[in-house]
Amino acid sequence: MHILITGGAGFIGSHVVRHFVSAHPDCRITNLDSLTYAGNLENLKDIERKPNYRFVRGDITDRAFIGSLFDENRFDGVIHLAAESHVDRSIASPLQFVLTNVVGTVNLLDAARSCWNGDFVGKRFYHISTDEVYGSLGSEGMFTEETPYDPHSPYSASKASSDHFVRAWHDTYGLPAVISNCSNNYGPYQFPEKLIPLFINNILLKKPLPVYGKGENVRDWLWVIDHAAAIDLIYHEGKNGETYNIGGHNEWKNIDLILLLCDIMDRKLGREPGESAELITYVTDRAGHDLRYAIDSGKLQRELGWSPSIRFEEGLERTVEWYLANQEWLDKVTSGAYMEYYETMYH
Ligand code: NAD
Ligand code: DAU
Repeated sequence: MHILITGGAGFIGSHVVRHFVSAHPDCRITNLDSLTYAGNLENLKDIERKPNYRFVRGDITDRAFIGSLFDENRFDGVIHLAAESHVDRSIASPLQFVLTNVVGTVNLLDAARSCWNGDFVGKRFYHISTDEVYGSLGSEGMFTEETPYDPHSPYSASKASSDHFVRAWHDTYGLPAVISNCSNNYGPYQFPEKLIPLFINNILLKKPLPVYGKGENVRDWLWVIDHAAAIDLIYHEGKNGETYNIGGHNEWKNIDLILLLCDIMDRKLGREPGESAELITYVTDRAGHDLRYAIDSGKLQRELGWSPSIRFEEGLERTVEWYLANQEWLDKVTSGAYMEYYETMYH
């Protein structure tokens, strides 16, 4: 068995690669990643020498390269995570999201179709998507697999589009494909442009904590290692043509999460209670900011027996501990181009 994992040097991808390499020693894993600003091989230092692991640097938008990679390797499966993933960047530069998330996905679908050439026994194309394709909820209800798509940001529109292409390749060409749509992940190795690691880094540096709007938007947070476990389950036991929602049943209003994070940081850093919360600064809201996401993951729980393993308070504490123990990693990824990004985005 030889599986291609795309985007394996990123946040979630590195956890998925680590999980598969360790849990399935008989399975060969090729990690394909172009190493954008979000990709970092340091995320995989602990497993890079495992005999069933290999890294290939390459771009999913390069159709000829993807075609020859499939021809040379005859992969049995694909787990596709490579993407541009940050909503704020998609608002500033939408075209790269169309290229990577839409064109890149179609290149992979087509390469898999032509490599497998109708012989789909033991083959699977698994596309990792997001709950943002469903749009925004009011104060009631949850996203189910039947919720109509209603994306608002260039990021979520590009992910919605890629989901449609995956379904089209399943329905039209019979490609054995499965999709999952997950809520907000958190945990080690997340790039500090996303809320939790950005705020941990700013608290460490005593910089302002830029809360969009009134901080009333709600997200449903999932421990990234639980997402990796769900991906393993769906890859091996999910049904082709199906969609599975993955979420933590763990809704937090941004401001409540930020206050909890400030408390944990004060405690861990030996600062006065309330010191970090003083850094909170309300800033102009994100354009098209979705109010609330909440995932109903009942189908995945009922059909495949998955459930989240840890409570959010514990996961957040472990996340903070990881960032404090890995400040070298944080310093490396926040040098150079990151400073330019930060200046443009927040000043
Ligand atoms: P990330 O930005 O941390 O990592 C993306 C990875 O893809 C990076 O390693 C990057 O180098 C690579 N990549 C980007 N463009 C590429 C290209 N053209 N060719 C090859 N590699 C390329 O993203 P993440 O947060 O780990 O998200 C991974 C996937 O999960 C994405 O598809 C995202 O839409 C989805 N997702 C993320 C979340 C979340 O909370 N972060 C939630 C649900 C779904
Ligand atoms: O729901 C799944 C999605 O979660 C994934 O598909 C995306 O790849 C991932 O980036 C994430 O999207 P969000 O936009 O929800 O995550 P982000 O960390 O950017 O923001 C979380 C919330 O915090 C959101 O309501 C915006 C707010 N926020 C974010 C930043 C970066 C702030 O208030 N200030 C900030 O500086």
